[in-house]
Amino acid sequence: MENSLKIEFETLLKDWAELSFQGDFLPKLINKFPNKIVFSTSFSYEDQVVTHLIKDLEVDIFTLDTGRLFEQTYETWTSTKAFFKKNIKAYYPDTEELQKFVTENGPDSFYQSVEQRKACCSIRKVHPLKKALQGYHVWITGLRSEHSLNRQNMPQLEWDEDNQIIKYHPILHWTTQEVTDYIQKHQLPYNYLHKKGFASIGCAPCTRAIQEGEDFRAGRWWWEDATKKECGLHIHQ
Ligand code: ADX
Ligand code: SF4
Repeated sequence: MENSLKIEFETLLKDWAELSFQGDFLPKLINKFPNKIVFSTSFSYEDQVVTHLIKDLEVDIFTLDTGRLFEQTYETWTSTKAFFKKNIKAYYPDTEELQKFVTENGPDSFYQSVEQRKACCSIRKVHPLKKALQGYHVWITGLRSEHSLNRQNMPQLEWDEDNQIIKYHPILHWTTQEVTDYIQKHQLPYNYLHKKGFASIGCAPCTRAIQEGEDFRAGRWWWEDATKKECGLHIHQ
């Protein structure tokens, strides 16, 4: 049987191409899929902008708490919840799966090999993501094309075959300057690590600050080959 959501996506894509109604696309999506849209936040600069863009719209918000986030990220979560007066649904790794993995491999096995690192990301991020997306038709993210080569040619509206969901990246083409100007203009709370050289922020043991001139994501899994730096949340066809 043909997937009806995928068919709806194809129609949507045609509208998108014909009308290119970028500015008004979020309300259009909400009209089309009421109560079926969710935004994932890691409380990065980008995610704070998107949280503000959707603040008066019917969009649920969730975060994946890996258990290894920076203290500053938890502080940003607290200030964001207070600022927007919105609940942000927390998702956690499966206790038994994580217990077994850490018991067998130790708490920091991600430094040992790419396989160990990917296994940790699967347990702490990708599996909880599957739960978080259940029942939704559209997944909104704060991805930007400047982030990495992988993301440069991504479509703003895409079909995620792996998660069987429509994905939309409202600020995909924004520049870093546009993002920081927006944060400043609206006085949004943000993760203070951004002011200390952290461009892209993930889990504490797997993120470091970057030097001037380094790639945006150079501080993520910095010990690994630069071409493999994805954790499995975002798979592009
Ligand atoms: S990652 O794949 O390397 O971890 P990145 O940090 O660039 O992702 O963030 C891109 C987008 O993925 C964010 O804008 C957000 O939508 C989503 N995301 C990343 N980490 C999380 C998280 N811990 N919880 C919820 N969403 C996240
Ligand atoms: Fe584990 Fe590091 Fe991936 Fe976080 S980023 S889930 S600590 S491997």
